[in-house]
Amino acid sequence: MWPFAEDEDYLENQWYVAAWSSEVTADKPFERWICGEPVVFYRDTQGKAIAMHGRCPHRSFPLGKGRVRGDVLECGYHGFQYGPDGNCVRIPSQETIPDVCRVQTYALVEKWEWLWIWIGDQTRADPDLIPDHDEIRLTEPGWLALPALTNTLNCRAQLLHENLTDISHLSYLHPGTIGTDSVASTRVEISEHDRFLRGLRMIPNEKLTGFFKDALGTEGPLDREVLIDFYPPNLHVAREKFINPGGDAIAQYRVCHAVTPATATSTNYLVAWSRTFAHDSREVTDTVNSVFAAVIDEDIEAVEAVENMLARQQQPREVLVSADTHSMRARRIMKKLFAEQSAGAASATA
Ligand code: FES
Ligand SMILES: [Fe+2]
Repeated sequence: MWPFAEDEDYLENQWYVAAWSSEVTADKPFERWICGEPVVFYRDTQGKAIAMHGRCPHRSFPLGKGRVRGDVLECGYHGFQYGPDGNCVRIPSQETIPDVCRVQTYALVEKWEWLWIWIGDQTRADPDLIPDHDEIRLTEPGWLALPALTNTLNCRAQLLHENLTDISHLSYLHPGTIGTDSVASTRVEISEHDRFLRGLRMIPNEKLTGFFKDALGTEGPLDREVLIDFYPPNLHVAREKFINPGGDAIAQYRVCHAVTPATATSTNYLVAWSRTFAHDSREVTDTVNSVFAAVIDEDIEAVEAVENMLARQQQPREVLVSADTHSMRARRIMKKLFAEQSAGAASATA
């Protein structure tokens, strides 16, 4: 699907943020679509989170509407039960259980408040490929990290990737909160790292918006560094760093944006953030949470409007400018990953 090839909707053999730890319980199953598949989650009696394909192989009832019974998940339609390995362990009407009566399970890794899922070839699920949570400041000492938002967007994931890698939009979509005129007019410097693609803007002498004055407890002006690291294909880590005229960083915060495809034209969007300042202030947490919620609603409205446009005009011609550099580099990385996926599939069938 645009901007990729017709059949390129999902990158498999990748880790994706699937859910918040708190969404998955032993009380009832929880369903979320990921990369075109219904996935059902629950916890067993040891508290271990389990993920399996969410369609009952009997008559296609959603397992998300079933029940957790100890270690097994029971379909809510005719009572078939599936163990944590996906094998059917009970069919109420008969003794014999056909081998084919099983569901796919998925590797899950619980890190910080997130559950990461591996979609694709399960033998390749290497937890070391998950971004380092210290590096992205969710577990690093000195940082207060908080879950913020969960949304399902009616748009393809790539539109959100390109929103997050082109922050020149801050000045126009989020004026008065996180956007000032200077963001759009500041040149972005791109650098490619082992695991991520970085876009950095240095804004000297930034006049603070009311939101930043409240959150940081200063009138400014301050130098502002805005950095976006894209860990393909799922995570963007945005960092804001404010520096006083003496050259000391007075405050930093990071926002982790997990962009997980749900279907070809819908996207799960889970947002967490962390900060170095005012750890004990509930007021700062509430202020930032409410501003982030409003800002992210503005982003969602924008990318869904673009998706609506694409639904009517599927191969748009784009006029690209220098501010698009980061997005286009991110797109190129995604294209390369799709090409590698196709080449892998071709060699597997050769
Ligand atoms: S559809 Fe699940 S047991 Fe029949
Ligand atoms: Fe935005």
